[in-house]
Amino acid sequence: MFTIITGAQFGDEGKGKIVDLLAKDYDIVARFQGGNNAGHTVKVEDKVYKLHLIPSGILLEARALIGPGVVLDPGVLLEEMEMLRANGVVVSPEKLGIDAKTSIIMPYHIELDGLREAARAKKIGTTKRGIGFAYIDKVAREELRLADLADEARFLTRLEELASQKESEISALGGDPALVRDSALIKKYLQFGKKLAPYITDVSREINEALDAGKNVMAEAAQGTHLDVIHGTQKFVTSSSTIAGSACANLGVGPTRVKNVVAIVKAYITRVGEGPLPTELSGELGARLQKAGGEFGTTTGRGRRCGWFDLPLLKKAIALNGYTEIALTKLDVLSELEPVRICVGYRYKGETINYPPELTEALAECEPVYEELPGWKADLSKVQSFEELPANAQNYVKRLEELMGVPIRYISVGPGRAQTFKKEEAL
Ligand code: GDP
Ligand code: IMO
Ligand code: MG
Repeated sequence: MFTIITGAQFGDEGKGKIVDLLAKDYDIVARFQGGNNAGHTVKVEDKVYKLHLIPSGILLEARALIGPGVVLDPGVLLEEMEMLRANGVVVSPEKLGIDAKTSIIMPYHIELDGLREAARAKKIGTTKRGIGFAYIDKVAREELRLADLADEARFLTRLEELASQKESEISALGGDPALVRDSALIKKYLQFGKKLAPYITDVSREINEALDAGKNVMAEAAQGTHLDVIHGTQKFVTSSSTIAGSACANLGVGPTRVKNVVAIVKAYITRVGEGPLPTELSGELGARLQKAGGEFGTTTGRGRRCGWFDLPLLKKAIALNGYTEIALTKLDVLSELEPVRICVGYRYKGETINYPPELTEALAECEPVYEELPGWKADLSKVQSFEELPANAQNYVKRLEELMGVPIRYISVGPGRAQTFKKEEAL
């Protein structure tokens, strides 16, 4: 069985938590795109793990794989491996595999990301982790792969080929090009390569062989649908394709293998960085959601912008991903709000529309049209079944399900593993 899990909004939907929850039924969990711009939080009893690169399945029995479509900061990965070990999690080459072709994020990518963002009149609000520039080099065929990092001679030759070009790019943006050939940094990276060499694998082959053997494989996305580099709200997007089809392309698995595609959907919406968010709540209500939901970036600590549930954007996410089921997260955060609103359409150029306009500039002009539902004044954090939810919370979930037309299979009411239940009767 091959399952793909993606975020249906702008990231931080709770992918880490839900992947950890479902991973017990999978033999392999593989990350297929993005880099350490991602921050996936998994709470296990009183421990909180913030994972940036390693798939959340690492905390269970599953083998964790990092696919060749990921851009990899080796220093960040090694720190993450150490953090897990310090918490008693086994991180051996039997448990973790990284594809030989994974592009390495070099210090010059991070430098260029920071310089470019500073120079932009209209910012994107990137995480400044070098993600975009590592992907530029991948498609320009100027990348350094993990296999190169692990082979000293090949690494040094390749770096020499690329160095003058990188120096001029940094100089052109007013930066100091010295870091490109900095011998201490090069030494450090060669050490990283030695440490990561035992983990190198062929991810596509491993997954296809596992599927042939009847095993279960899950693909874990980073970011969210509307941050997709092709179909998202350009230019306010990340530099990789975050939607379900990208899992097949990036992991090297044929689309005929896919059994189900799970959406992680937050009961409201958040966004970090710039770009339109039609239902954004400024003022007291926005601050209240941000506080109740702990909406501060896992990677950068920035406050996440919060808004009401946006159905047009969700409809588009369903179209882009072909979801077969939904995990609804953070329902507990809406407790105490009266009323609760769902954006069911937009007013755009005097008309009401129910699907987002294609261009970002047009989306930025859309005014939300709301449907109001009565709220519930109850703590949901200990609820264990759909029937235990207050009637108004049940009605909110049922209404969302009806509007989305895709069954909600899981409901999450807190960050902990136990704070999740299955919603048995679907549509
Ligand atoms: P990801 O990037 O999609 O994995 O999401 P993040 O981990 O960046 O952000 C989700 C945050 O919400 C984390 O702090 C989670 O621990 C937390 N979380 C996940 N599900 C729930 C939930 O149902 N209720 C509450 N209150 N918090 C949740
Ligand atoms: P997870 O996996 C939320 C956003 C950044 C910025 C834009 C581009 O935790 O859901 P980048 O550094 O990727 O070039 O920045 O994308 N962004 C995220 N927002 N969650 C994420 O990951 C994100 N990864 C990138 O804030 O707006
Ligand atoms: Mg996150």
